[in-house]
Amino acid sequence: MIKHLALFLLSVAVAVTLSYAQPSTALPDFLPDALHAASTLYIDHVDAAEDPCLINEGCLTGNGTRMLLRFASKVHNIGNADAYLGKPPANRTDPNNPIYWHWDSCHEHWHFTAYANYKLLSGDLSNEILRGHKNGFCLEDLGCNDESKEPYYNCRNQGVSMGCYDMYDETLPCQWIDVTDLHLTPGYTAQTEYVLQVAINEAGFFPEGNIANNVAHIKVVIGDVPPYTGPSLAEVRRMGAPDGPEGGDGPRGGGGGVDGAGGAGEAMGASSAGARMGARRLRKRKQFYRKAV
Ligand SMILES: *[C@@H]1O[C@H](CO)[C@@H](O)[C@H](O)[C@H]1NC(C)=O
Ligand SMILES: *[C@@H]1O[C@H](CO)[C@@H](O)[C@H](O)[C@H]1NC(C)=O
Repeated sequence: MIKHLALFLLSVAVAVTLSYAQPSTALPDFLPDALHAASTLYIDHVDAAEDPCLINEGCLTGNGTRMLLRFASKVHNIGNADAYLGKPPANRTDPNNPIYWHWDSCHEHWHFTAYANYKLLSGDLSNEILRGHKNGFCLEDLGCNDESKEPYYNCRNQGVSMGCYDMYDETLPCQWIDVTDLHLTPGYTAQTEYVLQVAINEAGFFPEGNIANNVAHIKVVIGDVPPYTGPSLAEVRRMGAPDGPEGGDGPRGGGGGVDGAGGAGEAMGASSAGARMGARRLRKRKQFYRKAV
C-alpha cells in the first residue's frame, strides 16, 4: 500500500514538471532519453563472421568488418501506469502466438518486435539514410528514478514500471547502426550532420498517455567513413587490446548523474541505489544474451 502511494506521488511530481496535459486514465508514457544516448555514442567495428546471426537479425547490413555507431537507449516510463508485456510465449512453434513476439531461431531467443526502432536520418529529418534493426530483446526495469522503488519486471515477466526505466547499454549486440556504407549514400561528406532517431512504441502497441514524446533525436557527425583496413576485431582481441572504450560492464555514467531526458528537456535524477541495481541487472541481461548466443 505504502509502495503504491509512493508511486502515485512520483507520477504526480513528474506530471507537474511536464507541460503537457495529464491523461485522464492511467496509462504508461515512454520517454526515450536523448541526452543519455548522446553521451554514450561511439564508433566501433565488428567482424560479421564472428556471429552470423547479426546479419540474419538485420543488425549488420553486409559481410566483412563493419563500422558501427553505437549508443545506449534508455527509456523512462513517466506515465501513471506500468507498461506491461508479460511472459514470452512458452511454445515457439504455435501459430497462435501473438504476432508481436518473434522467435529468433538464430540466437534462440524471443524478440518483442514493437518496441524500439533506430534510424539515421538526414540533418533536416526529411530522409531516412540508414536503418538499424527493431530492438526489443527484453523489456524490463533496469532501474528506477525514485529511490523508494524497486525494479519489478524482468526478462521472464516483461514490462516497465511507472517511475522506472529500461535500458539497452551501448555495448550490447545490435545496439548500433551499421554505418559502413554511409559513404555510398547521396550527399555524404565527413562533415555531414545526421540525426540518430530512437523511436519507441512506433506501432502503437502500448496505449500511452502521450505519444508526442516517443521519439528522441540526437545530432551526430560521423566523420570519415573509410573502407576499414585495420586489424579484424578477432585480431585486436588476440593482441589483448580492450574491445571498447569502457571495458567494464556497468552503464556509463551510472553513478548517480543527472540525465536530461529527451523531448520536453526536463532533468531526471537517477538515484545511485537505482544505478547500482541497474548495473547488476545489466550484467544479468548480458549473461542472458551470451547464453542465448
Ligand atoms: C554474406 O556472405 C555470405 C556467404 O558468402 C552470403 O551468402 C551472404 O549473402 C552475404 N550477406 C550479405 C548481407 O552480403
Ligand atoms: C506447440 O504448438 C504446436 C502447434 O499448435 C503443437 O502442435 C505442439 O504440440 C505444441 N507443443 C507443445 C510442447 O505444447
